[in-house]
Amino acid sequence: MLNVRTALKNGIAQLRDADVPSFTLAAELLLLHVLGRNRTWLYAHPEEILSDADAQRFFDLIARRAAGEPTQHLTGRQEFWGLEFEVTPDVLIPRPETEHLIEVALDRLALRERRAGRPQKSAGEGLQIADIGTGSGCIAITLAKELPAANFLATDISPASLAVAKRNAARHSVSSRIHFIECHLLAFPVGAQQAAPQLGEMSNNTSQALHGSQVTSHESRLFDLIVSNPPYIGRREAPSLPREVRDHEPPTALFAGEEGYELYADLIAQSAAHLKPAGILVLELGHNSLPAAQPLLDAANWTNVGVTNDLAGIPRVLAAERL
Ligand SMILES: C[S@@+](CC[C@H](N)C(=O)[O-])C[C@H]1O[C@@H](n2cnc3c(N)ncnc32)[C@H](O)[C@@H]1O
Repeated sequence: MLNVRTALKNGIAQLRDADVPSFTLAAELLLLHVLGRNRTWLYAHPEEILSDADAQRFFDLIARRAAGEPTQHLTGRQEFWGLEFEVTPDVLIPRPETEHLIEVALDRLALRERRAGRPQKSAGEGLQIADIGTGSGCIAITLAKELPAANFLATDISPASLAVAKRNAARHSVSSRIHFIECHLLAFPVGAQQAAPQLGEMSNNTSQALHGSQVTSHESRLFDLIVSNPPYIGRREAPSLPREVRDHEPPTALFAGEEGYELYADLIAQSAAHLKPAGILVLELGHNSLPAAQPLLDAANWTNVGVTNDLAGIPRVLAAERL
C-alpha cells in the first residue's frame, strides 16, 4: 500500500533517472491527473493511501513519461494565457513564448485605437482577425476571449488539428465567432466565406476575393489583424531536438523545410494581399528566422516594423503594419 508522499517520491526518482526535464513537476502533474486533485490537496494529504488502480495508472504514466511522451499528451491538457486547452498528439503543445504574440497583437490593436482617438481598451467591435496555422486554436481562442466582439478565421493544413481546435473553441464558448478552415496558409478554398456567416460584415466583393490566394485587389483586403505561429524549425535541426518534440509532436507543426524559415515568404505575401490598409501582421519567429523574415517586409507594402524578444532574449515576434 502506497501513500501519496511515497508514490510521488518514487515517481520523481524514476523520471530523474530517465533524464526527464522538470521531473518533479512532471511527476506531480501526473499524480494530480490520476487523482483528479489540485496541488494544495496533494501537499495537504501526504499520508492518503492510493488505491491499487490509481497507483497502477500513476506508474504506467510515469513509465510512458520516462520513455519520452510529453506530460501534456498524458494529461491531455496545457495552460496558455491562463486558459486550459485540450492537447493531443495531433497539435503542437502551446508554448509560453507564443504568449508574446498575443501581447504584441493586443498592444498593436490598442495603439491603433489610441491613434484613432478611441479608448485603447476595446472589445474588438468590427474587427476581422485571421490565425494561420491554428493548431490547438490557442491563439485565435485567446484573442477571442480578449476581444469578445471580434470575428475570426482560423486555418490549418491538418484536419486532425482543426478538430482539436474546434473542441477547444467550444470549451471556451467562442465557437460562434471562429470559423475554422482547412487550407494552405490564407488560400481559402472556394465557398469558405459563404460558410462563415460570422464574417457577414464583409462585402460580396470580399467573398469573391477569398476564392484565391493570388488575389491582390483592394476588395480582398479583409483583415484588421493576421497572426501566425507557423512551423519554423529546419529539418536539419531535427536530430538536436528534445525527444519529446522530435518523436511526439506533429512534423507538420514543427518543420517548414530544410532551413525552417521557408513559409515566411508565402505567409507575408499572402498577408499583404489580405490585410486592410493599416492592418497588422504579427508573426512568431524561430530562433534564427529574423534575418530571413524581416527583409520580406518591404517598404512598398509595410511600415512600423517591430521585433520583440522573448524572455531568453531571442527575437520571437515580428510585427508590421500594412500600408
Ligand atoms: C507551430 S504550429 C502552431 C500551432 C498554434 N498556432 C500554436 O501557436 O500553438 C504550426 C501549425 O501550422 C500548421 N501548418 C503547417 N503548414 C501549414 C500550411 N501550409 N498552411 C496552414 N497551416 C499549416 C500546422 O499543422 C500547425 O498546426
